[in-house]
Amino acid sequence: MDKKVTVVGAGNVGATAAQRLAEKELCDVVLLDIVEGVPQGKALDLTEAAPIEKHDAKVAGTNGYEATAESDIVIITAGIPRKPGMSRDDLISTNAGIIKNVTKEIVKHSPDCVLIIVSNPLDAMCHVAFDASGFPKNRVIGMAGVLDSARFRAFIAMELNVSVENTHAFVLGGHGDTMVPLPRYSTVAGIPITELMPKDRIDALVDRTANGGAEIVGLLKTGSAFYAPASAAVEMAESILKDKKKVLPCAAYLEGEYGINNLFIGVPVKLGKNGMEDIIEITLTDDEKAALMKSAEAVQELKDDLAKLG
Ligand code: NAI
Ligand code: 2OP
Repeated sequence: MDKKVTVVGAGNVGATAAQRLAEKELCDVVLLDIVEGVPQGKALDLTEAAPIEKHDAKVAGTNGYEATAESDIVIITAGIPRKPGMSRDDLISTNAGIIKNVTKEIVKHSPDCVLIIVSNPLDAMCHVAFDASGFPKNRVIGMAGVLDSARFRAFIAMELNVSVENTHAFVLGGHGDTMVPLPRYSTVAGIPITELMPKDRIDALVDRTANGGAEIVGLLKTGSAFYAPASAAVEMAESILKDKKKVLPCAAYLEGEYGINNLFIGVPVKLGKNGMEDIIEITLTDDEKAALMKSAEAVQELKDDLAKLG
């Protein structure tokens, strides 16, 4: 393949993302983890599936950064996931240290890559990677909105018994309890869901979306969701690798857009070969604006917590 993507963290999200990248034949994949043998074993297993899955993407596993050199994109999933009773924010001190070290190593070997951050708490980890990389804002992007919107889309399709392919949804804000699903901008075949279901059902789907991560953690008991998160990260990577210019909700560094400054938060962005190529400002009602500001305050608190960690 003429493109190369490194996935850091060969756990549930990382290994599944590597599988999807290879099986879609988007790029060669390097899977890196701190645990010896795990990335090598998973990469070999994926390589042995290739003849059956019919792709020629190369998948390599490693514990060292040399093999990651000249990656076009690096997806960072390293860290610890949530356990039942934990919020995403409880992961902050452990994962901040991991993301800082990982980012510094990645930048040494792939100074021109685009970073897609997945590790939680997502918006705070974007700040860690942004600071540690010294990259411009177009090359540090967080994955959360694509996942949260996919959950909303799945619930809309289930509720209305329509194809998921007919659904579109936007979830903005931080990747936490304050996230902002936007029913007005969520549609089935272009029809806003506000015209297709009563308010109490919309409220129920919005609530389920905001608690979508916790719902899966509660069922799995050990660890958190990974199939949909991996799909979401790969959709972002695909848009960048193929310069598709898809508009997707992602965590982006805002400098005045939506009245928010110097903060990573989920907004609609355009993803192309330069990474985050544009931030799209949509009109929000007063209630939607207030919800986004509340979410921004929650992310700002996490950013302040990071500053205290040093
Ligand atoms: P996991 O525990 O299955 O995998 C994490 C992997 O990171 C492990 O294999 C571990 O050995 C590795 N790791 C730890 N420190 C490392 C280091 N310094 N260098 C390289 N690898 C290292 O966890 P899972 O389920 O894959 O989740 C990964 C992260 O992604 C978690 O923080 C989780 O909360 C987050 N997440 C975020 C989502 C989002 O929407 N942004 C969605 C799902 C998960
Ligand atoms: C999720 O939303 C844990 O952030 C992860 O599933």
